[in-house]
Amino acid sequence: MAKKAWGGRFASQTHNIAEKFSESVSFDRRLYKEDIRGSIAHVKMLRETRIISRKDASRITKGLREIEKEIDRGEFEFSESYEDIHLNIEKRLIEKTGSSGAMVHTARSRNDQVLTDTRLYLRGETEEIISLVCALAEQFVELSAKNLGMILPLYTHMQRAQPVLLSHHLLAYYEMLKRDRERFINCLSRVDVSPLGTCAGAGTSFPIDRDMTAEDLGFKSVSRNSIDAVSDRDFCAEFVFCCSILMMHLSRLSEELVLWSAKEFDFIDLGDGFTTGSSIMPQKKNPDMSELTRGKTARVYGNLSALLTLMKGLPLSYNRDMQEDKEPLFDTVDTVKLCLRVNIEMLKTLEFKEENMKKALRGGFVTATDVADYLARKGVPFRSAHETVGKIVSYAERGGKELSDLKLSEFRRFSKKIDEDIFEVITFSGSVESRNSPGGTSTSNVRKEIANARRFLKRCM
Ligand code: ARG
Repeated sequence: MAKKAWGGRFASQTHNIAEKFSESVSFDRRLYKEDIRGSIAHVKMLRETRIISRKDASRITKGLREIEKEIDRGEFEFSESYEDIHLNIEKRLIEKTGSSGAMVHTARSRNDQVLTDTRLYLRGETEEIISLVCALAEQFVELSAKNLGMILPLYTHMQRAQPVLLSHHLLAYYEMLKRDRERFINCLSRVDVSPLGTCAGAGTSFPIDRDMTAEDLGFKSVSRNSIDAVSDRDFCAEFVFCCSILMMHLSRLSEELVLWSAKEFDFIDLGDGFTTGSSIMPQKKNPDMSELTRGKTARVYGNLSALLTLMKGLPLSYNRDMQEDKEPLFDTVDTVKLCLRVNIEMLKTLEFKEENMKKALRGGFVTATDVADYLARKGVPFRSAHETVGKIVSYAERGGKELSDLKLSEFRRFSKKIDEDIFEVITFSGSVESRNSPGGTSTSNVRKEIANARRFLKRCM
């Protein structure tokens, strides 16, 4: 049976099942680099403030570096009896350096240590996610530039509504991702705070220098209240919330790709490398990556719900419940990075079927609004124009015709204000180009937005 860090107070051993139940080293070992980095900064500060001797400090630092290599090489023996990553490393340090190692926990508690590790970890992961979000955003911009000119229906209520440029549709995802990036950057300012030195939750009587450790670890600021510092998991929930919105965007994209690859739409072709076949139906080419992205969104939402529920009833300050923050957090990080990576690569293979998108424009009277706008421009109040065009559509529908099949004389039966120029207005490209209002789908607007987006991405990547 292993000797516990708190052994002095206890007469009997921890029960096996209690040990198994409460260990976290099986999953928090992923924080070992951050744990060692935090300890080295702490020890350096203890040395500078003369709380421990230079000799002890250098023994500890050397020992910690060796331990890092042991873990890197897979030679470190983790033990559940030492509960978590912090105590596993400390125990090995003491094994290696004796009484020097036993000083590492001076003016520190696992309560501030675990948060130091988590914050360092999350800062690194958030930065990585931000660059993946930018890389995905770039795919949309490039797809949009590559396919400029293709037109498809805009759908509202899942009904064909108006002709728009495919590039305009794709840039909508760029906008979502740009907001996601901003949200992560904003969240970082609350992650990037040093809790080190708040100890068990009341601070310490040692003359520590918290600014020194914070600076050493690259933290932007230092937490101002020790009780809040060890109790706070807001930054974890906020990070998972940012991930949830990002996943919502990826899931909506997935839904569209699934629909668009169905024969009923047949707007796209996903690369063979990103689709799978069926074990029974030879004709199938399934959009599994999109389906799984949509499915994994549920996991991330579940993780957010777990974290919020975990925290809602906890009194200040540290409670062991908080150990349960890690698995949802780690799972979120892994899931989001994987989804981003697979979608970045998949989008590179995406081909659009222009003919089929064009086909979908037909038969849906998608330029009806253009006729109403035309009449309104000629002085007909929009409501009456809308009414008139409704009648035209109904007339055409009864005759099995499209607006473009109607003769001028047929149009004029409904309104004498309609002239020969109506035929330009009701072409798909005429409709698209007329929507030149800021943020609209006209080619000149979209071209401008592609240029803006490229400029923006160049700065942020
Ligand atoms: N493994 C613990 C956690 O993740 C570390 C902090 C333990 N603190 C304590 N007082 N038992 O929360």
